[in-house]
Amino acid sequence: MGKIGDVSVNVLMKRLRFACLLLFIRPLRSNSQNQSCISGDLNALQGFLRGLESGTPGWSMNASASGCCSWDGVSCDDSVASGRRVIGLDLQNKSLKGSLADSLADLEYLSWLNLSSNSLQGTVPSGLFRLSQLKSLDLSVNRLSGPIPMDSYLPSLEVLNVSHNAFTGSHPILAGSTKLVVFDISSNKFSGGVDTSVCNFSSGIQVIRLLANSFSGDLPVGFGSCASLEELSVDSNDISGNLPNDLFELSSLRRLYLQENQLSGWLSSRIVAICLTPCQTYRHLECST
Ligand SMILES: *[C@@H]1O[C@H](CO)[C@@H](O)[C@H](O)[C@H]1NC(C)=O
Ligand SMILES: *[C@@H]1O[C@H](CO)[C@@H](O)[C@H](O)[C@H]1NC(C)=O
Ligand SMILES: *[C@@H]1O[C@H](CO)[C@@H](O)[C@H](O)[C@H]1NC(C)=O
Ligand SMILES: *[C@@H]1O[C@H](CO)[C@@H](O)[C@H](O)[C@H]1NC(C)=O
Ligand SMILES: *[C@@H]1O[C@H](CO)[C@@H](O)[C@H](O)[C@H]1NC(C)=O
Ligand SMILES: *[C@@H]1O[C@H](CO)[C@@H](O)[C@H](O)[C@H]1NC(C)=O
Repeated sequence: MGKIGDVSVNVLMKRLRFACLLLFIRPLRSNSQNQSCISGDLNALQGFLRGLESGTPGWSMNASASGCCSWDGVSCDDSVASGRRVIGLDLQNKSLKGSLADSLADLEYLSWLNLSSNSLQGTVPSGLFRLSQLKSLDLSVNRLSGPIPMDSYLPSLEVLNVSHNAFTGSHPILAGSTKLVVFDISSNKFSGGVDTSVCNFSSGIQVIRLLANSFSGDLPVGFGSCASLEELSVDSNDISGNLPNDLFELSSLRRLYLQENQLSGWLSSRIVAICLTPCQTYRHLECST
């Protein structure tokens, strides 16, 4: 019993010592870790801060206190050869006021940007729509305006959410965004015809929300190329005419919102395979079974 106990205690002591070593090593390493991003990224962040009227809690204009990678909402990655780079900015719901500085687009390694639910206004710097690493762009619930540039090029983009703003101009297309999964441009002031070209480039797209804009004209053929589409919301626009047949060839489509438009005609009998909720809300639509 005694021997077994001794052995166990010895083993335990060794483990404890090892654990203590780990405890001491960990804080030392993180204390000595360089929290600075490269000066270009620091300038970009400070430029962004300068464009705000509200400031950003925990951020500093002071270059000697440049621990920008530990600033609130900033994520860095040091696997990049050129130094510690800013790869993420998550400042949703931070009561930010003011406009988006052009310098934001200098964060060339930015992979996600979430500025949702603030009071940002003015136009979005066009460079932001040309960031090659950007996977997720969420500018929803702000007061941003102006068009989304037609020459945008976001090859890594998976999620676009610019809903609940005051964007104008024609339907964004996002040519070259082949990895797009979510496309939400709802509750803006986009106008002109619905364009299904997003389906040309992004066959894996699952959600398309165009609702609550000023789109008019027919609902064109083309959504059929979005083979993974689960939700299509075009409600509360000024869309007219008949529904295109290819819409009903989408086996993955679960949610189709059409209400508050001028649509007419018949739903394909295939509609029974799609969850259309509830049919009574499709005022201008006659349902055939
Ligand atoms: C921290 O990293 C930045 C950018 O990589 C560099 O400019 C700076 O000299 C480094 N500071 C220290 C104390 O190592
Ligand atoms: C930068 O900030 C540090 C601490 O917050 C302060 O001691 C220093 O004087 C500031 N430097 C400048 C140039 O403002
Ligand atoms: C935003 O933050 C406030 C507190 O600052 C909180 O009450 C509110 O629930 C947050 N809203 C969202 C959508 O996260
Ligand atoms: C951005 O932040 C909001 C609020 O926390 C969150 O609901 C949303 O999912 C985020 N956007 C993305 C694209 O992750
Ligand atoms: C886009 O953002 C809004 C507001 O933050 C949110 O309610 C909505 O669910 C988001 N869209 C998608 C498709 O996630
Ligand atoms: C998308 O494909 C359709 C049908 O092939 C074509 O008419 C349209 O011009 C394409 N859109 C773009 C932007 O290439």
